[in-house]
Amino acid sequence: MKYPKEYLDEIKTRLKVSTVVSKTVNLKKRGKEFIGLSPFKTEKTPSFTVNDEKGFYHCFSTSEHGNIFDFLMKTQNLKFGEAVKTLANLAGMRPYTFSIQDEEREKKWQEYVSIYNKYVQFYHEKLLKNEKASVARDYLKKRNLSKEVVKKFKIGYVEKNTNFFEKLKKDFNEKVLIESGLFYLDDKKNIYVERFRERIIFPINSIAGQPIGLGGRTIRENNYLAKYINSPETQFFKKGSNLYNLDLARKLSNKIDQVYLVEGYMDVIGLSKNGIDNVVANLGTSLTDKQILILNQFFEDIIICFDGDESGYKAALRAAENSIKELKPEKKISFLFLTNNEDPDSFVNKNGKDYFIDFTKQNKISIHQFIFDHYKNQTENNPSSMAIFEKTLRSTANTIKDQFIKKYILEYFLKKISSLTPYINNNKRQFFTKKTKSLKSTQKYFNESKSISLIEIKEFSLLYLILNNLEIFQENIHLIEKIKLFTNENKLVFNAILSKLKNGDKFVVNDLSIDNQLIDKIFKFASIKHILNNYQNNHDKIFDLLEEITRDLKNYELEFRIEELESKFAKDLSESTFNEIRELKKLQNIN
Ligand code: UTP
Ligand code: MN
Repeated sequence: MKYPKEYLDEIKTRLKVSTVVSKTVNLKKRGKEFIGLSPFKTEKTPSFTVNDEKGFYHCFSTSEHGNIFDFLMKTQNLKFGEAVKTLANLAGMRPYTFSIQDEEREKKWQEYVSIYNKYVQFYHEKLLKNEKASVARDYLKKRNLSKEVVKKFKIGYVEKNTNFFEKLKKDFNEKVLIESGLFYLDDKKNIYVERFRERIIFPINSIAGQPIGLGGRTIRENNYLAKYINSPETQFFKKGSNLYNLDLARKLSNKIDQVYLVEGYMDVIGLSKNGIDNVVANLGTSLTDKQILILNQFFEDIIICFDGDESGYKAALRAAENSIKELKPEKKISFLFLTNNEDPDSFVNKNGKDYFIDFTKQNKISIHQFIFDHYKNQTENNPSSMAIFEKTLRSTANTIKDQFIKKYILEYFLKKISSLTPYINNNKRQFFTKKTKSLKSTQKYFNESKSISLIEIKEFSLLYLILNNLEIFQENIHLIEKIKLFTNENKLVFNAILSKLKNGDKFVVNDLSIDNQLIDKIFKFASIKHILNNYQNNHDKIFDLLEEITRDLKNYELEFRIEELESKFAKDLSESTFNEIRELKKLQNIN
């Protein structure tokens, strides 16, 4: 139970750190602080300081630090509660008694658990021995549940007419008994009757292994009774915060990373019977975030394996959409689909443990793949359906709380989506290598240009523009000096031009000490030349063209960098890489 902050603060205000520490450490005052030999290490020069004003101690040689409670816990090996008691006593305060509500709740909880314990034990023994329970024993035999399994899961059977309520009433508070949900009032007869009468009962335990709720299966073949019922929600039993068999399964978590999450009690028992004990079931409600978080505390890898029928599939989808929110970098959630309307119980009974494990290895799919595949199957080949598809995936990814996983799953979705838009995608992929489209009249030039990329041609245009307007650019050198080129040959030409321009002297193309072939190439392939010919000496147009070309080049650069980073990200999944990609993509959009 938690101490209220005020109580702890009261102790702290009454006790100076130096008072507490000086009981075991010899302290000397030095300025505002005290200094002494570290209690955490043998040393000759004092490195241990205490600051009463700030309320802490600090050891410079071990980096240990904390308040008075920490000090006691560490030096005397006490639990927090014990440290509080000791120090409260030293401070002349009374030991803390938790509030009346706290105490009442605690008392009620003890009673609640005792009732459940007694109930479970009572009907478990009846199932094993009682004459009236033979119908249940026959039923379990028919379902191949051995006595060992019945004992392991403390399965019980509640007969038709019992007077257990009256018996329990003698030992327990009636209010708590009623609140346990094991009985309800029969209005007509005005007596409390068994909620689980004529049902096989499966105790649901807390993590600590105490029974706190029940699942009950009818053994009568009829369809007006629900096949399974659960204890109602109580103060101490919340379906969404518990899992069937978690108390046993969690004990395996130091050996096994994986846990199966199934729908039913009988699935848990069926798997366990076949030697698979790392299995839990959610309790007849849809899977909650809380249940995922609880499982993640123990297991790295959750494998959700629901029934292989339509309702199992729907439940799996709900579970996927709910649990993807909780995905963490170091945790995995996958799905295993069984075929032919099998459930895990029937499947494992038919095929055995080894097959089941093999089947899992080969058929489980990641949660993101499942979600993608599901919506993909719902999508028709038309723009609006595709658009909805993309939107759905984006908003699903957006529900993920962990920022990092969110990005990664979004990338996964978007990558897969982009493979569905091959046209846009192809254009993008061929961005740099696409051959120029040729007019008939210029066919021969373009035949030569087979090996020339779009980006090179852009660069030719830039150089052509400059070479044809040397005077203009000499006066406006600031417009071009920062432009980045990609191909080595063009860089060479560009730098040569720049240095001549900066030099300040007038010059003509032939003055550049550059291989004529390069210059020829520029004049031949610059796609801009036909446009420029119409705008001789039109400064505005020249600057417009320059701007257009630089923007394109900038985008090539971004595109290159993004591509580079995306391959890097695929390997290292680093957050900083992702952020860089995102920033660059933003820039790309602005351009
Ligand atoms: P199933 O109908 O799949 O049960 O329900 P099962 O595990 O295959 O059981 P058997 O083999 O027929 O005995 C799966 C789970 O759904 C919940 C229960 O938690 C059950 O274990 N359920 C099912 C209900 O809560 N109420 C119902 O009426 C049916
Ligand atoms: Mn089932």
